[in-house]
Amino acid sequence: MDTGIDREAAWRLLKQYNEKDFHIQHAITVEKVMGYFAQKHGEDVNFWSIAGLLHDIDYEKYPDAHCQKAKDILKESGATEDLIHAVVSHGYGVCSEVEPTHLMEKTMYAVDELTGLIGAAALMRPSKSVQDMKLKSIKKKFKDKAFAAGCSRDTIKKGAEILGMNIDDLLWETVLAMKAVEKDIETEMERYRKETGNE
Ligand SMILES: [Fe+2]
Repeated sequence: MDTGIDREAAWRLLKQYNEKDFHIQHAITVEKVMGYFAQKHGEDVNFWSIAGLLHDIDYEKYPDAHCQKAKDILKESGATEDLIHAVVSHGYGVCSEVEPTHLMEKTMYAVDELTGLIGAAALMRPSKSVQDMKLKSIKKKFKDKAFAAGCSRDTIKKGAEILGMNIDDLLWETVLAMKAVEKDIETEMERYRKETGNE
């Protein structure tokens, strides 16, 4: 599927609208995790990755117009309707009425908040890494509503439901994805910090 915008242009656009390390890291994380799942399902790695990278493009500058502003930014930047639909659908029921229909959209809906939860759980470990994380420990963090309270458990549960997966499988599949791409995310973040001089 055509994105209308290549990786380089998408990266430039992300930096134009986002300055905070936290937001850049989230964008890269969702990009890499989506790329992993696309490959796993034999789907379009480029499309899934670019959608992941740009899904929160408007959030830092326009939190009150999240998903709506993204539509305008992406349109102006030459993104295809497919890409815009994908991005806007991740906020279904929260900031958009666009339902996730494609497997890619359902996956992004399910893993967006969940990658945040797994990332926060990894930081609590002595290793500061997801590599030695077990299903049992992420299940515990998922149930502990006070932990990373900003990561909506209801959205994650709904994501599992629309994917037709049970919650434990979704948790574990996403931990496996994060294990696979953790190094890539670190490399990208190092490159980003060098670029911006925030080493
Ligand atoms: Fe997000």
